[in-house]
Amino acid sequence: MIKAIRVHELGGPEVLKWEDVELGEPKEGEIRVKNKAVGLNFNDVYFRKGVYKIPTLPYTPGREAAGVVTAVGPGLTGRQVGDLVAYAGDPMGSYAEEQILPANKVVPVPPSIDPIIAASVILKGMTAQFLLRRCFKVEPGHTILVHAAAGGVGSLLSQWANALGATVIGTVSTKEKAVQAKDDGCHHIIIYKEEDFVARVNEITSGNGVDVVYDAVGKDTFQLGRRFLQGTFYGVEALILLIGVSCVGVMGSRRITCFFTVEKLFSCGAWFSDLLGFLGSCLDRLQTRFAAGGTGSERTPLGFGI
Ligand SMILES: NC(=O)c1ccc[n+]([C@@H]2O[C@H](COP(=O)([O-])OP(=O)(O)OC[C@H]3O[C@@H](n4cnc5c(N)ncnc54)[C@H](OP(=O)(O)O)[C@@H]3O)[C@@H](O)[C@H]2O)c1
Repeated sequence: MIKAIRVHELGGPEVLKWEDVELGEPKEGEIRVKNKAVGLNFNDVYFRKGVYKIPTLPYTPGREAAGVVTAVGPGLTGRQVGDLVAYAGDPMGSYAEEQILPANKVVPVPPSIDPIIAASVILKGMTAQFLLRRCFKVEPGHTILVHAAAGGVGSLLSQWANALGATVIGTVSTKEKAVQAKDDGCHHIIIYKEEDFVARVNEITSGNGVDVVYDAVGKDTFQLGRRFLQGTFYGVEALILLIGVSCVGVMGSRRITCFFTVEKLFSCGAWFSDLLGFLGSCLDRLQTRFAAGGTGSERTPLGFGI
């Protein structure tokens, strides 16, 4: 018996219950992992509220964690008891002391990486990589706009884009978040509750607009975001990368001929495995930096050099 957070009905945070759960033993191809740290994502809230469909109730939320392997399924090679591993995505159920995972869904975490760091960047890191290096390849000289720059994904986007040589404009709701966004490498920060962010972006870019908008907010920012875009991307008129489900209300716009949602991440299987491997290699590189005396706080992106 283990403890896990269980959701029996959709709703606010009050529906999260800490309960005893029978876990069982790993079957063929599976491992049992004792979680050391669990990543939180806004995505978890969408599931809890029913914005994303939950296959069954009750369920255990969470799609990101790092922990130690406590048992392996029959005949499994490549993973052993005591390994520190991290995973992101499916299966859902990381808000738990222990969970059973398919062995091929985890990546090893080097011993010098704090499990808290591993658990907090594995999903958000893949998301940031997908957005900065695949949907639109951010290069030196680009100017980008990151909405919700102090959020989980936003803070990684800002750090990484800064390290790639882009000029990063971030929007946040409060002064406290502005401090964090600055620390995360935003060159210009707009507190959108106090300033007209359209006017400010035009001012910062001398009216030239930005190359890409990363929009994790959606409906409130989308119409305005369209105005900042310049140039073309693969021959299309504009590019706004819509990160969250809140963008659903604006889908179908004819003027934006190219657009992605990060939810696509989970529907492109090959990319997903590839990204998982990529994140694993980033953790390895972080370990090399630690070994070389780095503190881990340098503003080097996880995907440095890629
Ligand atoms: N985490 C991932 O890997 C991932 C993967 C795929 C998609 N996404 C999507 O990306 C978006 C950001 O995810 P995240 O995990 O980075 O979330 P997060 O850390 O909770 O950040 C969300 C940010 O959105 C802003 N925001 C604006 N309106 C909001 C509202 N009504 N309620 C809450 N926050 C609001 C807040 O910043 P301000 O206060 O500064 O406005 C907040 O910091 C979400 O839509 C999520 O579904 C994330």
